[in-house]
Amino acid sequence: MTKKVLFVCLGNICRSPSAEAVFKGIVRKKGLAGGFEIDSAGTLGWHAGEPADPRMQSHAIKRGYKLTSLSRQFNPDTDFDYFDYIIGMDDSNISNLRSMARTKDDLGKIYKMTDFSREFTFDEIPDPYYGGDAGFELVLDLLEDACEGLLETIRADL
Ligand code: 4NP
Repeated sequence: MTKKVLFVCLGNICRSPSAEAVFKGIVRKKGLAGGFEIDSAGTLGWHAGEPADPRMQSHAIKRGYKLTSLSRQFNPDTDFDYFDYIIGMDDSNISNLRSMARTKDDLGKIYKMTDFSREFTFDEIPDPYYGGDAGFELVLDLLEDACEGLLETIRADL
């Protein structure tokens, strides 16, 4: 069965589109792309329809990740039903997602990205939006680490 994974941040222009691209890259490299549907969304609608932040795009492309998705707002009425794993980037995303959950099943699909970290000990993917280059690099470092752990977890659940 296809596993459906949705990455969620605030604006869906920095962290979650990067998580989407990093995770897609990992599953593709391992020949597992056919087993996954991977998407991203934001709890905020402000940037709906926009491409990823150009700063995030330029840091990502240096590591071979092309950010192609357009921002969209998380939709509790469809996304909780459709996706198996709904993965927030920070505590604020998690509390927003939890407040939108309609059922216990919905709550059970919510995870935090850093729960899958293997090497890093951060407990959130920090919002890079108002900071400088180092924040965008840190996002990618944390996501590369946690996406490997996420794939291991999903494969163990199968
Ligand atoms: P993201 O970053 O949640 O990683 O996409 C942000 C993007 C936009 C804003 C905040 C964070 N904003 O306030 O517009």
